[in-house]
Amino acid sequence: MLKKTTKKKTKKIIIANWKMNPDTMQDAKKIFSDLKNKKLNPKKAKVVICPPSVYLAELSMNYRGQAFSFGAQDVFWSDKGEHTGEISTEMLKNLRADWVIVGHAEKRAIGENDQMVATKAKRVIDEGMKAVVCIGEPHRDDHGQFLRFIENQLRDSLSLISKKKTDNLVIAYEPVWAIGKGKKPPTSHELHQISLFIKKILSSIYNREIAMSIPIIYGGSVDEENCRELVDIGNVNGLLVGRASLNPHIFSNIIKELDK
Ligand code: PGA
Repeated sequence: MLKKTTKKKTKKIIIANWKMNPDTMQDAKKIFSDLKNKKLNPKKAKVVICPPSVYLAELSMNYRGQAFSFGAQDVFWSDKGEHTGEISTEMLKNLRADWVIVGHAEKRAIGENDQMVATKAKRVIDEGMKAVVCIGEPHRDDHGQFLRFIENQLRDSLSLISKKKTDNLVIAYEPVWAIGKGKKPPTSHELHQISLFIKKILSSIYNREIAMSIPIIYGGSVDEENCRELVDIGNVNGLLVGRASLNPHIFSNIIKELDK
């Protein structure tokens, strides 16, 4: 008898990572209001806007719509106290931001290590927020060493997330060589291989069922042209969008593509 496969229809996840942009609150409001004016009502996609934290309150607290959720680009692992310059999960939750990007390549490049990423991811998940844990190799090689790199980074970054806590976990695969201006994403076939590889590791960390339930999204030079193919053929559950998310026209086209 054929085993009935119950394919859960999960929404695609589209995360806008504004990074350290734009320069003024006025421009941040303009980007968001232009996006709102596109009157999007995505049914098949969950869209999360991650502006710099200084703009978060202004954007999220004045927003009454359903089309967008909010997130932060980073968080600190401790709940309170003497931590100059840091922002806590509690502060973010109070600003209606319930997604957090952790371990982005640009944070790792200035010293964030897997242990720090693991601690942050645990904190975010323990607080009932969604943790988007970023992983990705700095470069590729012909001997498959980069696969070991991905595996170690994934295992170490998830070392504090137990089986029971995986509901709020999202993995963002962002190869460092594909992020930023002048870079190119992997081919969708290459991405497909990596998404299978990540699922295999997640299976061995947790189990197959949990591995299949953890969304894997892709980030690095996503645009309106490549987004659909990266998701469909690359076999990922969504996208983490940098530069293109600052352009409301392009970003809304990405949302429309994934909402089809
Ligand atoms: P990019 O950035 O889309 O500008 O390449 C993606 C990211 O770093 O999250």
